[in-house]
Amino acid sequence: MYLSTTMENFAKHVQNSFTDLTKTSAMTTSDCNANINTDGNISVDWRRETLLTLMSKTVLTSLFYTLFGRSVDPSGEEKTKNFCPKVFHDNFDIFNKYFTYLWIGLPLKLFPKAAEAMTVLLQQPTSHNMLQRNGVSEQVKVSINHFHQHGQSEQDIALYNLLVFHVSYNTFRVTFWCVYKLVEDPSIVKDLERELHEAIELKRVDGEESVAFTLAEIDELPLLDSFLKETMRMYSGALMVRLVTKDTEFEMPTGHKYTVRKGDRVAMCAAGLHMDPEIFEDPEVFKHKRFVNTTFYKYGKEVKKPILSFGSACLGQRSALMQVKWFVMNLINSFSFQLPEGQKTERDTEKYGNEILPPVNDVQVDFRPKEGAPVLVYSE
Ligand code: HEM
Repeated sequence: MYLSTTMENFAKHVQNSFTDLTKTSAMTTSDCNANINTDGNISVDWRRETLLTLMSKTVLTSLFYTLFGRSVDPSGEEKTKNFCPKVFHDNFDIFNKYFTYLWIGLPLKLFPKAAEAMTVLLQQPTSHNMLQRNGVSEQVKVSINHFHQHGQSEQDIALYNLLVFHVSYNTFRVTFWCVYKLVEDPSIVKDLERELHEAIELKRVDGEESVAFTLAEIDELPLLDSFLKETMRMYSGALMVRLVTKDTEFEMPTGHKYTVRKGDRVAMCAAGLHMDPEIFEDPEVFKHKRFVNTTFYKYGKEVKKPILSFGSACLGQRSALMQVKWFVMNLINSFSFQLPEGQKTERDTEKYGNEILPPVNDVQVDFRPKEGAPVLVYSE
């Protein structure tokens, strides 16, 4: 029920963000390229943005509104200009960079940039106003009510809201990498387009402009699923840390014996599994079909959980995966895009410990709306 409401709201916000993008990009884009489509014809429909800006305007905005809703004016009308994706993203990215240090209790004054970013991010509606916003999530509502009952301060609640968005920032990063892989390799887009097109044609009722997808139907797209898993495999930086609560001896299938002592801390790095050449052939190569109908083995035994990006304790795994899938389906359905020559980025391998690695640099992308694309709607 909770997931379905989340998806319904998220889908609505994605649709709105795409509409806004087609309306405003030409005006707000600093570099509008009029001669870049592959057949050499001039097309003024192509727009250029940096990928992070594009993602801020679409998926980040949608994740934000799905959690915190939108403000309404006294007549009940939604205010449209209440959130500036780029300002939010720039500040949130700085906050996110220092998050781990703050989380383990280091004082904020050691990190002036983080303090500056937090000054912006903490300019939030009061918690009472937050509860009045249109479409505010159950998660935020329940938490704020809980904080009120326990007499917590407005500052605590505002910090909690940043923490809530911090976990959704992983969803944003995965989506960033998915879109980067799509613009980098048009053959992936072709394959995913074909799969989506077939699914749409199966469901499309003659004359209808919109096509509805349920959660189960979104999950029934094996190529999309494989593409997402491969993205998670390549870009995970998660470290799962555990405290050993009793002395434990164990033996590896190789015969090596180890002892971990009570009180030790052990850390498991998702990338250690994801980049293991004994499990994944050519682990450094991105293969979007890698997970279609495949089983992976190590020491002759099946690896039951080949993707460790969510560890074993993440509470948001299902909703994050469904949101990324929905976003990618809609993007492919609604836009064509390409990477201008020379634009390239890669994961920042100095940032292990982040659940999803950030890029070392941003890139520019060209995109344009597809004419006559059906509208995809989420259905329970
Ligand atoms: C692609 C997106 C996401 C990734 C890659 C991710 C990854 C992770 C990882 C690696 C952990 C540590 C798990 C462990 O130690 O076993 C974790 C914990 C957690 N995640 Fe996520 N996460 C994502 C999205 C979300 C979302 C959207 C939510 C919110 C609904 C969420 C809520 C949590 C919570 C509450 C924990 C802590 C659980 C605990 O310690 O008991 N995550 N996540």
